[in-house]
Amino acid sequence: MSGKLASSYAAWQKLQEIYDTQHSSLILKDLFAQDPARFSKFSRTYTAPTPSVDASSPETSIFLDFSKNLITEPILATLFDLVREAEVEKHRDEMFSGAHINNSEDRAVLHIALRNVGESQFTGIKEKGVDEVLAVLAHIKEFTNAVRSGQWKGYTGKPIDTIVNIGIGGSDLGPVMVTEALKPYAKRDLKAHFVSNIDGTHIAEVTRECNPETTLFIIASKTFTTQETITNAESARAWFLATAKDSAHVAKHFVALSTNTKAVTEFGISKENMFQFWDWVGGRYSVWSAIGLSVALVIGYENFEALLKGAHGMDRHFKETPIEQNLPVILAVLGIWYNDFYGAQTHALLPYDQYLHKFADYFQQGDMESNGKSVTKKGERVDYQTGPIIWGASGTNGQHSFYQLVHQGTKLIPADFIAPATTHNPIEKSKHHRILLSNYFAQPEALAFGKTEEEVRAELGANAKTEVVKSKVFEGNRPTNSILVPKITPEVLGALIAMYEHKIFTQGAIWGINSFDQMGVELGKVLAKNILAQLGSEKDVKGHDSSTTGIIHQYQKWRKE
Ligand code: F6P
Repeated sequence: MSGKLASSYAAWQKLQEIYDTQHSSLILKDLFAQDPARFSKFSRTYTAPTPSVDASSPETSIFLDFSKNLITEPILATLFDLVREAEVEKHRDEMFSGAHINNSEDRAVLHIALRNVGESQFTGIKEKGVDEVLAVLAHIKEFTNAVRSGQWKGYTGKPIDTIVNIGIGGSDLGPVMVTEALKPYAKRDLKAHFVSNIDGTHIAEVTRECNPETTLFIIASKTFTTQETITNAESARAWFLATAKDSAHVAKHFVALSTNTKAVTEFGISKENMFQFWDWVGGRYSVWSAIGLSVALVIGYENFEALLKGAHGMDRHFKETPIEQNLPVILAVLGIWYNDFYGAQTHALLPYDQYLHKFADYFQQGDMESNGKSVTKKGERVDYQTGPIIWGASGTNGQHSFYQLVHQGTKLIPADFIAPATTHNPIEKSKHHRILLSNYFAQPEALAFGKTEEEVRAELGANAKTEVVKSKVFEGNRPTNSILVPKITPEVLGALIAMYEHKIFTQGAIWGINSFDQMGVELGKVLAKNILAQLGSEKDVKGHDSSTTGIIHQYQKWRKE
């Protein structure tokens, strides 16, 4: 087991020394002026060997320009030394071999096995059965085809026209993000809803738009014990039975995605309507598993498999490419440079593609639940920063809300700008897309190079007031990555997601933490359970601090149910 303190590595100490002695001279404007080859030195392309299912854009590639980062070649080399010293490649190979790298839960971490499909399968992955994965995929294919073709009928003989995925966290965010991202491939007459929040408003508003005769509920829960999901599922069943009356009809309208057969059958969903996955699939890495059923229903099985293949291609890249060329590793070390040496607290994901509008939300869980840890795998408190706060929104909306702070605020906010070269909606001869991309290109340029006081004065003239001039200065030197893909096809999206997953893995391995448990979500759940039992009357509210007791009493005074 690893779990060494990252700060003990020689490369870490060297990076600290470099930061202390050089950071004030790391000015992007100068670095570009000094080296005409900077762009080619600090950019890489990943290309998958097999073509996409989308013949209009067969190439599955990701181009990464990281030249607008506060690095030099020696800094990058030292960051790669850190990767070697932390034995990231060894940890990576352990993950791929099925070792129990999630040590606190004694589990393998094998979401890579779920997308080990197609021509170039990895061998030697233990723990999972390849056969089991393929059997579940076959079940997904059969079921998806039956629903989409209208062969699967509701209890009154009508085909399904609406699906409702009920899940939360990884059992919601992946399905939501991917169905949104791949909407161009969707069956438009199959409506998809996603219910996650325990707030009854969520299920109430969704069921208002559903017809019980033609709605299929997908109960997505790895554990099948999550309070939000089970409560919403019970309310959905009650809503359905209020019309359908006979619980025998549940079989045609409820399916489950879970590892917990016992709880699923107890809920009243038969084994045949259950899509299995396994404890070696982490919730936030589960969209590739049966949890992706809603995705497959919306975009069709072929496209779902193409998503898996796209991710598999990136898995191969991560596993087999030298670290200097390895996109996830490069992104990871750049993140560490800002997080641990520059003191950046956050990292922004800024996709210039409306279809990717849930991408940052998705990786908020993916990254923050994985690397929001403060002890190493050996239980030692870290003496450095671990996972950053992940946030973001799709461009250009963000430009009109929070970019002001990114450009001129006091905080350093490293950001990834992500865009497709080709849009799915080339309306007005792609006029919109060209405007969108002009912003995608302009923002990193403005962030890197800014605008000096002299430039502002030259624009405003000699009589301009100093305070006005100062307010228009952009300091620049704000680091970004630019990620360009040909088009958001299923394969490209699969590769993009897997790239970020492996970035998260690499950072976790360097920090020596367990990126695959999520103990931090437990305490609040336990306290909520105790409080729920005490909400009845004022005298029951016991055992809390005065603040918690006081606010519960105020609620009890005001509530009208
Ligand atoms: O938030 C904690 C968590 O365990 C996530 O990791 C997971 O994605 C989510 O809850 C949902 O869990 P389940 O799929 O078991 O309902």
